[in-house]
Amino acid sequence: MNICMVGVGYVGLVTGACFAEFGINVVCVDKVQEKIDMLKRGKVPIYEPGLEEMVAKNAREGRLSFTTDLEEGIKNSLVIFIAVGTPQGNDGAADLKYVEQVAKSIGQTMTDYKVVVTKSTVPVGTGQKVAEIIRANQETPLDFDVVSNPEFLREGSAIEDFMRPNRVVVGTSSERAQAVMRDLYAPLYLIETPFVLTNVETAEMIKYASNAFLATKISFINEMANICEKVGADVNLVAKGMGLDRRIGSKFLHAGPGYGGSCFPKDTEAIAHIAKDHDYRFRIVEAVIEVNRDQRRRMADKIAQALGGDLQGKVVACLGLTFKPNTDDMRESPSLAILPAVMRRGAEVRAYDPAGMAEAMEKMAGLVACDNSYHAAEGADCLVLMTEWNQFRNLDWARLKQVMRGKVVVDLRNVYAPEKVRQAGFTYISVGRP
Ligand code: UDX
Repeated sequence: MNICMVGVGYVGLVTGACFAEFGINVVCVDKVQEKIDMLKRGKVPIYEPGLEEMVAKNAREGRLSFTTDLEEGIKNSLVIFIAVGTPQGNDGAADLKYVEQVAKSIGQTMTDYKVVVTKSTVPVGTGQKVAEIIRANQETPLDFDVVSNPEFLREGSAIEDFMRPNRVVVGTSSERAQAVMRDLYAPLYLIETPFVLTNVETAEMIKYASNAFLATKISFINEMANICEKVGADVNLVAKGMGLDRRIGSKFLHAGPGYGGSCFPKDTEAIAHIAKDHDYRFRIVEAVIEVNRDQRRRMADKIAQALGGDLQGKVVACLGLTFKPNTDDMRESPSLAILPAVMRRGAEVRAYDPAGMAEAMEKMAGLVACDNSYHAAEGADCLVLMTEWNQFRNLDWARLKQVMRGKVVVDLRNVYAPEKVRQAGFTYISVGRP
């Protein structure tokens, strides 16, 4: 089977490489020539463990190729995945112009039956719209089906998530398309992955519902942390105690500076917007978004309070900048809101991140780039843990004490044992722990 993956962003590239790994011929198409050139040279434009090796191997073995020629890709493939970006428009709604462009090309170019699959997270009803655009652009009517097949990949473990997913969601009302999708995912049937087969609209909704619910868990525990701080309770243990109830589950109950990344902020805004478009206010999700915004403000306050309330002339060392570990992705990272606020109040920020340095420097004026944790800590009044990269989990406290000017640690991810840091001679402040 030949498939065409349109858009070699994060989702498109991971999905394309993984299908090639399944033995399917995949041609990846993108209109950005530099990206395609880079991939042809075996270089992957994003940071994802295992991806570069997988891309190189499948390219070498002839199952994975890259081109800017969309028509070529469409003509030679039975299945066309649309994995292009759906940026957030000014009003919070997803901007579908790229999806629509691809649909138009498919209509104009196709000469036989196609299965057109949306991978991009799109508003409910986009599947129908894609079908209409394809139909409107065909010279002579040709058969095709539209499928919604949302992705649930986490950055940093995307390959594992693709190869061993909790579930695969396939939305289509066509049996023919369903059979094609089953062939595509045959290796996952073998390992007994649950498949949710439904219509296009429901599949589209499952994606939003999942992300909005996960974001809700995070905002919930962050508010819990804020209350814990006031009453002297420990949010880590509250989360543990709650999470052991199987109806709740222990995942995504980690208090911190709020969620970031390319999905949660965008998808929560989008579903709130979709609801509004249908004259419904999704009040829970609206609150989730507001709490997340407030949490960032609170973290800047926390850092200021840790230093006595006044940041003028203070030096703050920040470990980690990306929205989570094991990615170079800075999109919607809490650091982008917290650090500029700290700098506005008069502090100098010295920062180190294992992968996000370059982009962070572009996005935050005034940040001092450092080479490692201890370099960042030099002369600092306070050390802030922003992103819980593994390499920050075992810091040499004695060494830090020597290089720092002050002795304050603000742990925004609750990764350190309070007693241990305090024993090392620091004032230790975390999120929602006494
Ligand atoms: C997410 C979804 O998990 C994935 O299913 C979807 O397809 C895309 O969006 P991703 O954005 O890669 O994946 O990151 P994820 O690991 O889910 O974390 C999102 C954010 O939430 C991060 O900023 C993380 O730090 C934060 N988070 C997560 C918390 O603050 N607390 C938690 O308990 C969990």
